[in-house]
Amino acid sequence: MPVHAIAKEAALNAAKDGDAEKLRTWAAQLEAGGVLYFPQTPVPIPIADLGVLLGQKQKHSSLHKNIAYKPNRDELTGVDAKSSPAEAVEQLHAIMRRYSKSVENFLGEFLAPYQRRWVLDYASYRPIEEQGRDLSTRKRNDLLHTDAFPTRPTKGWRILRFFHNIHPTRTRDWVTGDAFPKVVGNFTPGKLALPRPDGALAKAGKGLASATGLGGLVPQWKRTPYDEFMMQLHNAMKEDSEFQGVCTKEYFQFAPGSSWMVYTETVPHAVLAGQYALEQTFLVDPAAMVEPELAPVRVLEKLAGARLA
Ligand SMILES: [Fe+2]
Repeated sequence: MPVHAIAKEAALNAAKDGDAEKLRTWAAQLEAGGVLYFPQTPVPIPIADLGVLLGQKQKHSSLHKNIAYKPNRDELTGVDAKSSPAEAVEQLHAIMRRYSKSVENFLGEFLAPYQRRWVLDYASYRPIEEQGRDLSTRKRNDLLHTDAFPTRPTKGWRILRFFHNIHPTRTRDWVTGDAFPKVVGNFTPGKLALPRPDGALAKAGKGLASATGLGGLVPQWKRTPYDEFMMQLHNAMKEDSEFQGVCTKEYFQFAPGSSWMVYTETVPHAVLAGQYALEQTFLVDPAAMVEPELAPVRVLEKLAGARLA
């Protein structure tokens, strides 16, 4: 997958000036499966916040499991509140709130072509060393996969993730794989059946389609055929050791202090090593795309010859 490096000043100036042509080009690169890479993050973390994020591991290891911030509820999870001092939890909560807001502010301008037609999803802090983690196959991050949320179907909305490597000295090491249509071609129709519209979806037609608008929150709703397929694809990629062995791999090291963003539901990715990363997820309306035809729901619908979400 191509990595497009963008200088911090270029990103900030284009965003501030509303340079429509440049911003559309970057959005199109992103949608085509590119990684937009900012060698210096355009969303810097206040030094005091950085100190807290990097320093707490030694002090309160219980704080550092899998920390998530849910902006819609202003809620912090993954922190063991019982064994962590209340002020430390509150401090971390405030830092994650600030981080989430600052990424949203930047992307509101940088991804101006989307006109904020997205749902601000969770932010996360990943303080665990990725190399050598002991996880079950489906949870492993070091196997190439495309993202799908088991309990939160996106119904065709795209998963955009903005990362920040806050490790002071070490890179975060990624590998990416082939373009989405090629990956789908690897698995269908032999290993995975192409998605088919379910009866309810076919019957309800347009009425259902309009009811699936995310409307500011992601409803806890049943998976659409699109979600079902994306979940199966995620699992099939991780569980297929032959695919993991032979598929195309490109290695990239994200520098300390850098940021990058990618549509992780289409770009196969894995993290091989690295520690201390922040991440903010957006669920983006596929209809807001600069190139709507490249959205995975459209790609799959074309293959299936039916509406899937
Ligand atoms: Fe992932």
